[in-house]
Amino acid sequence: MTTVENLGSASAPEPLDERIDALVGRLSTEQKAQLLTGRDFWTTWPVDEIGLRPMLMSDGPSGVRGEVWDERDPSLNLPSATALSASWDRAIAKRYGAAAAVEARRKGVDVVLGPTINLHRSPLGGRHFEAFSEDPVLTGDLAASYVAGVQENGVAATPKHYVANDYETDRFTASTEVSDRALRELYLLAFEKAVTEAHAWALMSSYNGINGVTASENDLLETPLNSEWGFDGIVVSDWTGVRSVAAAKASQDVAMPGPNPWWSEGPLLEAVRSGDVPMAAVDRKVHRILTLAARVGALEGFDAVAATPGNVEDGIAFVREAEAEGTVLVRNTGLLPLAGPDDAAAPTRIAVIGHNADQARTQGGGSATVVPSSVVSPLDGIRAAYPAATVEYAIGAVVQEGIAEFPLSTITNPGTGEPGARVAFVRDGQELYVEDRQATALFWFGGDAPTREADRLDITTTYTAQSTGTVRIGIGAAGRSRMWVDDELVLDEDVPYEGDQLGAAFLNPPARSVPVRVTEGQPVAIRIEHDVVQDETLGGVLAYQFGTEPSDDDPAVLIDAAVAAARAADVAVVVVGTNSKVESEGYDRTSLALPGHQDELVAAVVAANPRTVVVVNAGSPVEMPWRDDVAAVLLTWFGGQEYGNALADVLTGAREPGGRLPTTWPVAMADVPVLDVTPVDGRVSYDEGVHIGYRAWLRAGVTPAYPFGHGLGYTNWTIEDVTATPSVRAGGEVVVTAVATNTGDRAGKQVVQVYASRETSSVDRPVRWLVGFAPVRLDAGESTEVSVRVPARAFAHWDGAWAYEPGTVTLHVGTSVVDEVDSVEVDVS
Ligand code: BGC
Repeated sequence: MTTVENLGSASAPEPLDERIDALVGRLSTEQKAQLLTGRDFWTTWPVDEIGLRPMLMSDGPSGVRGEVWDERDPSLNLPSATALSASWDRAIAKRYGAAAAVEARRKGVDVVLGPTINLHRSPLGGRHFEAFSEDPVLTGDLAASYVAGVQENGVAATPKHYVANDYETDRFTASTEVSDRALRELYLLAFEKAVTEAHAWALMSSYNGINGVTASENDLLETPLNSEWGFDGIVVSDWTGVRSVAAAKASQDVAMPGPNPWWSEGPLLEAVRSGDVPMAAVDRKVHRILTLAARVGALEGFDAVAATPGNVEDGIAFVREAEAEGTVLVRNTGLLPLAGPDDAAAPTRIAVIGHNADQARTQGGGSATVVPSSVVSPLDGIRAAYPAATVEYAIGAVVQEGIAEFPLSTITNPGTGEPGARVAFVRDGQELYVEDRQATALFWFGGDAPTREADRLDITTTYTAQSTGTVRIGIGAAGRSRMWVDDELVLDEDVPYEGDQLGAAFLNPPARSVPVRVTEGQPVAIRIEHDVVQDETLGGVLAYQFGTEPSDDDPAVLIDAAVAAARAADVAVVVVGTNSKVESEGYDRTSLALPGHQDELVAAVVAANPRTVVVVNAGSPVEMPWRDDVAAVLLTWFGGQEYGNALADVLTGAREPGGRLPTTWPVAMADVPVLDVTPVDGRVSYDEGVHIGYRAWLRAGVTPAYPFGHGLGYTNWTIEDVTATPSVRAGGEVVVTAVATNTGDRAGKQVVQVYASRETSSVDRPVRWLVGFAPVRLDAGESTEVSVRVPARAFAHWDGAWAYEPGTVTLHVGTSVVDEVDSVEVDVS
């Protein structure tokens, strides 16, 4: 087996480079050009003569979907990136990457399209849940560990989206206007660490422009990525992100998916033949593609870095552990942990309240979605943790918007008699292809279904209601649909597209539904015809949902029922959260308020039972106007498929809530210092420069609900005896040490955080900035010395080059950006 280093060096030609060059030399111009585009939605082209097989790419980043988006080929659903970053733990990030690599290999995937390492510039960013943090050091350190975890197991990681792609509005066309300094110190820094520390084998360019030049044509792909950081992997475009032949002159290596209107055959070949795109540029790209193939084992005669993953652990158990490690306890007046199930004081009656307690969000929406084989909801997890208790569930408030899937147990495929639905692809009235599906949210995003050939989808199922009443049955899709219930045409509508086509039709489909009277146990036949219209941007992509829409229940009635349940219980657990219309790729958020009547619900439940824990199931910040009135608040992000079990572990104290906030949590949207995500004249101006996240909050002097780095545990700590290397110069490092002691009576976790500040500076500096951190786990009464290594670069600023302003830097050691235990001075020269 070859080591990473042997396959990875970017320096002067060495045997591997020479051997790859020899292969490049055997290819014709046509073969080379072909290699630069995808063969289809997810794979690259093979070249049999040189022993190159196709390489399969797949989303990512919180699990690996594989070539099809299909419940019949499920994937491990890891907690969202925000949960991972809340662990502040490189070791967890590395295991997370390794778990992705194991999934990748199981599904034949060579390249994982993740991690997403854009920054939390604004909490309105639609993909906030998918990115790590508002801080570049936390993001970059965890990203590097994630990448190492994937690649040590022989699979390529693809940090994305390069760069300044921190919002979704007009995402294909908007340009981010950003200073070089902010790019270098913030947005590029996370990528720099992933490349220089973990040697990423691939990277994805973004859709947006940067200072007026679209990412796939931007010089940033060369400098600093290649010329300074020594990147020797491939730059793959975001899907459809290559929009010109000119991008081939830039350091953009592969256009995905294929075919690409500019790079597939015609235009690119002509440009190469005419010399407009130099052959040397093409050769360099091909060289990189073959190097990637050698690394992942797709090129005969070259040993893969690891033919099979070496770091294999139980994925389900890891999801459960990682979610608890990322769960942030932001408030606790002593209610948590609850007495465990074996304790005499264990609750005997528990009220579990909230739509998300039953229909949990375990991941955000968009291309990051994977299809898990099953999900443990908070309700399931609490029931399992307290088998002897009476657990009463009340929805409390409707959170869902749009179409929810029919539960599989309620639908029968008339073709097979099994649970599910029959889905036929039809052309000119003839069935071309049939799928027997066990889901009613259907996506074709690659795979074999004839999505380009079909002109109609015919869907049939029977639905058996679990209770008698009126149910709103409907569809979620843009375009023309007709729906029959028991042979009666109940819906016939051409539903218009809203927003950009990919965002609207695919990620946020408009819903239409009709009320249907149903009787418990009595099946109704549902038949749907949908006219397939080819997507202009992404041919062959198709999404279709059918199921139920929430009915217009009286909010007061739902709240009253929840209050009654809470009043009768020893403890109430209210799970509040967002829904699929709020946090997704493809569009930004417009509000930080919880959807529906959830705020009223919490207030009413707390008034009925002061022993109330509120659990927030959201991938990014939400307003919590009741937060100081409840006994305990847990921020749990999108918890992955073991969400409910992990939550129960934290509630019972079987595990410590290990998380610290990776992003500032505002009181109200109006307080957020950097909020805008909407282009003006096609541009989003990052006028705040290097002051985003907690840096902006400190500068504005506004107090958030919970500061960056904040999080409580179940034990107590002291951090003492802080020391640091007294002086440092460029290229050196400062070692900060402190003695951490668990002074409580149970094992726990603390995260020691180190921030820098400069009292006097000729440069416009952040008030404070994170330079290092270390998670610590200790048994009761134990002490340990913690050391945090801070590279001198952490004290430099960008001024056309990294510049070191001589003088004194203060290092603040503490447990959040504002909770300092001690400080120490370092002389920078
Ligand atoms: C997303 C990428 C994703 C790609 C392929 C794009 O729309 O921005 O993050 O990897 O689709 O699904």
